[in-house]
Amino acid sequence: MQNFDYQTPTRLIFGKGVVDEKLSEVMNMFGKKVLLTYGGGSIKKMGLYDKVKELLKDKDIYELSGIQPNPKYDPSVLDGVKICKENDIDVILAVGGGSVLDCSKAIATGAKYEGDPWDLISYKAFATNSIPIVDIITLAATGSEYDAGGVISRTDTNDKIGYVDLHNFPRVSFLDPTYTFSVSKKQTAAGCADAMNHIMEQYFTGDSTLLNDGFMEAGLKSLMINAKKCIENPKDYTARAEMMLCCTYGCNQIYALGSSYSGWPCHGMEHALSAYYDITHGEGLAIITPRWMKHILSEKTVERFVKYGVNVFGIDAGQDKYDIANQAIDATYKFFETIGIPMHLKDVGIDESRIDEMAHHVAENEGLDKAWVPLSEKDIADIFRASL
Ligand code: NZQ
Ligand code: ZN
Repeated sequence: MQNFDYQTPTRLIFGKGVVDEKLSEVMNMFGKKVLLTYGGGSIKKMGLYDKVKELLKDKDIYELSGIQPNPKYDPSVLDGVKICKENDIDVILAVGGGSVLDCSKAIATGAKYEGDPWDLISYKAFATNSIPIVDIITLAATGSEYDAGGVISRTDTNDKIGYVDLHNFPRVSFLDPTYTFSVSKKQTAAGCADAMNHIMEQYFTGDSTLLNDGFMEAGLKSLMINAKKCIENPKDYTARAEMMLCCTYGCNQIYALGSSYSGWPCHGMEHALSAYYDITHGEGLAIITPRWMKHILSEKTVERFVKYGVNVFGIDAGQDKYDIANQAIDATYKFFETIGIPMHLKDVGIDESRIDEMAHHVAENEGLDKAWVPLSEKDIADIFRASL
């Protein structure tokens, strides 16, 4: 087992009605000037915007709206930093999906930094202070509500950087599964694929434990069962609730304390796809994952695929190990297809033309030569081509 250094300072408030019950009390802990951040309007359609405004009517509320999926440095992060600096904001309330929350994280540290906030995202400098963040997460996917990560895109340079900063942990996250009832089939499936891939990025590595393996295998099974139920019946509270919790655990290391670090290769590759083509993160991951699995299947990795196949998909353990591994990879592909994810890059508007450029970008920036199974620029291009 590997050494680890772990802390998650985020308070989770989970369940039906928790926003009505506790939002005012929680926000009173942080001050009067609130920056309310949100996306393109889903929170207005579901009545959450009006509810928040009513619950916080004694606060001074400033707003940053229109935060897009794959949130953009310019304008969203820069606009948010400006509002915070000009108005001496006490707390940011992020209401929406992972994109809204990630954007808010970059604003929270950027507002307390004198230089260009991009320095903090690109690790040129490190934050020493931040504005507290409270969130109401409305989409089960990223786990941003319980982690120190943030992912910000910059269209002028085709960068999409996932970075970790301990100041990014939200102070309080509200998780009411009923706010995910309105999530579309497409986003529910993409969220499931994202959360499954977060687990796989931690499962497929050199050193794990029986405890971690069991936890992650249960997470994968629960996500597959519950995502299907959510797609069939979007208002199935139990399924939405369990899916939400599986996603929340995703990125804060709890699934894999004591395991070795895999290098998160599928995320490294997917960031280039979203950066160049602005596709949905979870769909990009679902497309790449089975191709990456086939690419790295070898004597070094086969036992891990056997364990995955037998314990997650119930494949007969008595067969040849490569047969089991290949069946497990095919089952992964089939599951994503079953929940309606387009399984080829060309289905999401990506063709051959920029593959070499993207592979070069990934090889230069994502450190995948140090992954559990190291990937060269050629390996990355081969995986992209196999995904076409
Ligand atoms: O903008 P609005 O109108 O709110 O609509 C959003 C958006 O169009 C909609 N939506 C959200 N909640 C809804 C809803 N529609 C109906 N009902 C609701 N309750 O869904 C669309 C997608 O939202 P977005 O926030 O982009 O999705 P997600 O939560 O999947 O976030 C994706 C972003 O997170 C990053 C991804 O790279 C991507 O940029 N990630 C962040 C991570 C982290 N911080 O730890 C880890 C992940 O690996 C991931 O990279
Ligand atoms: Zn992800």
